[in-house]
Amino acid sequence: MSGEYGEIGALLGQDRKGYSLPQKLYVGEQAFAFDTQVMLPSVWLYACTVAHIKKPGDWFLFEMADNSVIVLRGRDGAVRAFFNSCQHRGARICEAQRGSSPKLICPYHQWTYNLDGSLLGARNMGPEFDKSTINLTPVAVENIGGLIFICLTDTPPPIDRVKADIAAQIAVYDLEHCKIAVQDDLIEDANWKLVMENNRECYHCDANHPELISCLGNSGFGKGLPEDGNAEASAEAHLLAKRGEWAALGIDHDLVEFPDGWWHRIARLPLVDGAVSQTMDGKVASTKLIGPFETPETSSLSIWTQPNSWHHFCCDHVVTFSLTPLAADKTLLRTSWLVHEDAIEGVDYDPANLSAVWRATNGQDGYLAALNHRGIRTDGYRQGPYAPEEKLVENFKEFYVAQSRAALDGVAT
Ligand code: FES
Ligand code: FE
Repeated sequence: MSGEYGEIGALLGQDRKGYSLPQKLYVGEQAFAFDTQVMLPSVWLYACTVAHIKKPGDWFLFEMADNSVIVLRGRDGAVRAFFNSCQHRGARICEAQRGSSPKLICPYHQWTYNLDGSLLGARNMGPEFDKSTINLTPVAVENIGGLIFICLTDTPPPIDRVKADIAAQIAVYDLEHCKIAVQDDLIEDANWKLVMENNRECYHCDANHPELISCLGNSGFGKGLPEDGNAEASAEAHLLAKRGEWAALGIDHDLVEFPDGWWHRIARLPLVDGAVSQTMDGKVASTKLIGPFETPETSSLSIWTQPNSWHHFCCDHVVTFSLTPLAADKTLLRTSWLVHEDAIEGVDYDPANLSAVWRATNGQDGYLAALNHRGIRTDGYRQGPYAPEEKLVENFKEFYVAQSRAALDGVAT
């Protein structure tokens, strides 16, 4: 085994079913290096939506630790991804977080690349130089109904089931015809796994998320589905009644919950009575509805993927969350609110109103994740037991442990 990650195997060996991870997997520097250099590059990561790169030439950076990836829209409309490293002497090509350009030009010596990654021009390289042999290093990329996933290894794991299930459910939201209305980049003072774990349970919601509860009720994310077996009777009856409405609209489906070891969960959830969107007042945030919806409807479709994203689709807007580790105790949570491309700011939607529920919720979750991180750093930390409604936390933890073990084996061989 590589000495660089010598303690990771032993720490993974301390994993206990039904309990949180050992301290150093959350707060240790070696675990951070392992996660960002070995484990996370071995799996599919959510990067952005097609609305972030709407036109040919639009590009968007996905950055994690040392890695930087240019996700771009080609002239043919296809989504492509390349490492952000010039094939001359390696300089970063794109510096801003996003941009648009008909070609990619390296700032150092101006080598110029087509949007398909091929080298278009390189000055004064001599007669022997064959530019046709040079391309930007590609990164595996999948466009799943408008959600873009990348994988940094040459041998990405399977994605076909995730692709089929998610694409089928979100097609009605037609992300190609949405635009980014608001983007928040929030840096949380917590390890990325704690930010993920916090997202995977609503055990904390009643006491901490008044805005979220006001539109979702308290039977949402980690609990309250009949399949979970821990729903309150009233919530279950409410859901079953709603499913009849959704069937009439052609948007009903069974819960998809990390099937057969796959890494996605899809659930359509009822909003509180009278609400049609995840907003403070329950009313639409954008009067220009998206997809096929002609009148507001009363649910939101939610998607969670391991290991770094979650998304909510309403009839008037979509909100997507991507998470990337920045340091052992720093995590970037990027939240993007999408509306119909024809919606006009100040006329059809107010950005502050559109983003209010999740901006408040993100702030509350950032506080909780930081509390969690700081508490884990004390000598009093012990691996703690999950509540039944934290089963999706356990699911995330199991994914992390299994992928880490596999990735560690890859380092050792
Ligand atoms: Fe990019 Fe020289 S490093 S042109
Ligand atoms: Fe929360």
